[in-house]
Amino acid sequence: MSYQKDFAWGCATSSYQIEGAYNEDGKGLNIWDVFCQDKGRVFEGHTGDIACDHYHLFKKDVELMASLGLKAYRFSINWARVLPEGTGRINEKGIAFYNELIDCLLAKNITPYITLYHWELPYELHKQGGWLNPNIVEWFGEYAALVSERFSDRVTNFFTINEPQVFIGLGYITGEHAPGLKCTLTDQLIMHQNVLKAHGRAVQKLREKAHQPIKIGIAPTSSMCYPKTESKEDIEAARQAIFSIPEDRYRWAWNVTAWSDPVILGAFPDEFLKRFESVMPHYSQEDMKLISEPTDIYGQNIYNGIEIRCGEDHKPEYIKRDAGFPYTANNWPITPKSLYWGPYFLYERYKKPIYITENGCASPDFKSFDGKIHDGGRINFLERYLTEMEKVTDKIDLRGYFQWSLLDNFEWHCGYRDRFGITYVDFETQERTLKDSALWYKEYIKQHS
Ligand code: FCB
Repeated sequence: MSYQKDFAWGCATSSYQIEGAYNEDGKGLNIWDVFCQDKGRVFEGHTGDIACDHYHLFKKDVELMASLGLKAYRFSINWARVLPEGTGRINEKGIAFYNELIDCLLAKNITPYITLYHWELPYELHKQGGWLNPNIVEWFGEYAALVSERFSDRVTNFFTINEPQVFIGLGYITGEHAPGLKCTLTDQLIMHQNVLKAHGRAVQKLREKAHQPIKIGIAPTSSMCYPKTESKEDIEAARQAIFSIPEDRYRWAWNVTAWSDPVILGAFPDEFLKRFESVMPHYSQEDMKLISEPTDIYGQNIYNGIEIRCGEDHKPEYIKRDAGFPYTANNWPITPKSLYWGPYFLYERYKKPIYITENGCASPDFKSFDGKIHDGGRINFLERYLTEMEKVTDKIDLRGYFQWSLLDNFEWHCGYRDRFGITYVDFETQERTLKDSALWYKEYIKQHS
């Protein structure tokens, strides 16, 4: 039971959640900039206009990372910062910002992992239909080409799209996230197709423009499923459950296979086809080839899961959570085993080197009289989850783990209410204070490197 040599111990962030400087140095607007102006959409009318002001404070933030001994850092590029209209005109000041960030990371021996799309759709593209417009495949390809051209001389790890489940599920099905739409099923499935094809085009373009061999993957999410016991039957039930597609019409997008099967295996699962064949857009052979353009690595964001046992009819049975079951500050169940069984089942199905691209928890952190942040709950969370993850290292090709998140930040429609950071941010002064969990993680990394 031990981690691979060069295991990527890191933290993850995303541009809109930390950068701020939403209208500086020629940046264009994205859908979140606009969504947050529509008061009532986000908790207490919070916006990411300033966020953690990382755009100005990134050097300090890289110092923080170095002080923790991080080996890797996963961040996203704000598409409209480098291409203000989404295509065409390049904003060199935006490029310069990411160049400096990358150089700073490398100077501290921290390996950068770039995510192309962590939900920052340029507003100009949204006005042209955004994910509903099939041209987005080429728009995204152009953006990927630029990122590769400008950064792949120093960056060799790329994730195309973060959590399609969530930005489609919450942005275009239930409408809680930007751009706040509730689309018809037909439109949802057109977007599903455009996202998959855009991913494929990005893989091609990243590679075509790369200055050296690079590694590319996608970074989806979903609830993991874990078996009640280690009996063959329970394990098989959990396996079936994790790869199934929720019945609920508002939740169908929250699953692994509708996204990862076409990307990795080049085909949709039967369950998906049976359910949606009459409504889904046509897929040609070339489409499937594009979508399954070979990738090198597989990312999965894992926060929690569902306990499953084999029911009397031999179907997976969901086990109700007992009174007293633990939940995080934002009400997500605490289920450490999802970090064992999730990667286990995913590796078994997709056979790609895996990264846990996000994992962490919100906790009700505030300063104690001694000026410190004693987030024992988060330490407990990380210790329990990482203990499970360590057990799976011998069974699968696990390459890295990115804790979410380095800093407290703008947590989408929940604004600044939910603190996910191992670093406390005072949003009035922008002062950063390492929480107890950061010091714990530092020690953990040291012991496991
Ligand atoms: C994930 C998102 C990330 C952050 C965490 C808490 O779904 O990818 O941006 O919001 O949840």
